[in-house]
Amino acid sequence: MPETLTITDNRTGKTYEVPIKDGTIRATDLRQIKFDELDFGLMTYDPAFMNTAACRSSITFIDGDRGILEYRGIPIEQLAEKSTYLETAYLLLNGELPTQSQLDEWTFNVTHHTILNEKLKLVLDAFRYNAHPMGKFISMISALGTMYPEAKNIFDYDNRQKQIQRIVAKVITIAAFGYRHMVGMPYAYPDNDLSYSENFLNMIFKTTETKYKPHPALAKALDVLLILHADHEQNCSTSTMRVVGSSHVDPYSALAAAAAALYGPLHGGANEEVIRMLTEIGSKDNVPAFIKKVKAGEGVKLMGFGHRVYKNYDPRAKIIKQVAYEVFEVTGKNPLLDIALELERIALEDEYFVKRKLYPNVDFYSGLIYQAMKFPMDMFPVLFAIGRTSGWLAQWQEMLLDADQKISRPRQIFTGSPRRDYKPISQR
Ligand code: SDX
Repeated sequence: MPETLTITDNRTGKTYEVPIKDGTIRATDLRQIKFDELDFGLMTYDPAFMNTAACRSSITFIDGDRGILEYRGIPIEQLAEKSTYLETAYLLLNGELPTQSQLDEWTFNVTHHTILNEKLKLVLDAFRYNAHPMGKFISMISALGTMYPEAKNIFDYDNRQKQIQRIVAKVITIAAFGYRHMVGMPYAYPDNDLSYSENFLNMIFKTTETKYKPHPALAKALDVLLILHADHEQNCSTSTMRVVGSSHVDPYSALAAAAAALYGPLHGGANEEVIRMLTEIGSKDNVPAFIKKVKAGEGVKLMGFGHRVYKNYDPRAKIIKQVAYEVFEVTGKNPLLDIALELERIALEDEYFVKRKLYPNVDFYSGLIYQAMKFPMDMFPVLFAIGRTSGWLAQWQEMLLDADQKISRPRQIFTGSPRRDYKPISQR
């Protein structure tokens, strides 16, 4: 059978053969379908890109119906159990797991780029103490980019790798400094003896001790959470990274834009909203009334539930739920856990959620862990951004090197006023 689509335009009776490749047709192949010579030709209309592939990618594979997530073909469950965040970041960026010498070099380079230019502290000082950490993160990433004007040489391989190392390295320092600014604590500097996640905990929680000793179980839990958040194919923030990067701007500016997209409550901001929702519910007994409000369609959403792609349990949520119990062994159980478990139990049985295939997503349980680890709610999307940084950079780099790609510039359906003349104010 030919891999083609035969389209008959009933307006003209003409028939067209359009090739099918990788389960898609090229939207530009529709432009030949016109009802007369003046016609621009057919376009597709796909608000929010519900059914549009914007790129070819070999980085992350998701099967939404079967709840499968793989980075470069490796199941997320195996990476969460056996890998580290830096090793996974290397995998996403380079396509293969590193050899020992490659991992040692990558780890050395990231570890030795965690320090920030001291001028960046002045950027933080410009913020009020209660400025949201994501607002600070976005600004600091953009400011960081101005320190390295050579980052604009995006097609120079060595320069691009240097910027990627710097960004992966410095996002933990930027996030930690943003936290310390919020709580009025002096900045704690990176400790090169520590691993990536240990170093982040050091810069967040170190007080007067000369050497901060992170709790191994908490450092491990954080590292797993970073792995789980590292990439997720063409989500809103990654698509933003690609679109902004398609103008050939430097990676810092593109990443600041991606972080801004992640900040939204429907995306990376959901983990913070989940805790606000559980706190508002207050007790297990109030869960049925809350579910009723959600189902009444009063615009109240069950935050941390639902997904554009997963129409099954988000595999990351399953792993995070296990990590939660390990963390609570150390920190004590988060009292909101029982409310979360009851919400999940009821929702998974309720026709409203079952019919809409709404399951817990990556954000449903992650906030419970962050809160138990004593991170304030405002920091939760920043923690998401730290993990997603390697995915954003991997997707950005893949876009740059993809011969199919060029500057993103969608079309529109014009619904505005037909041509008309300017009217003097006396006649309006
Ligand atoms: C992330 O894309 C990614 O990969 C994102 C992410 C990543 O790793 O990058 O996985 C991270 O962003 C996870 C999602 C975090 N957001 C939330 O938890 C916010 C709550 N979830 C929803 O807002 C929603 O489910 C979305 C935004 C996640 C997905 O929205 P869609 O695909 O546009 O689906 P929709 O809004 O069209 O919903 C379909 C139906 C609607 O009902 P009807 O109009 O058919 O009656 O399901 C309902 C929605 O009202 N619905 C919900 C719901 N989510 C969808 N109803 C109640 N609670 C919810 N959470």
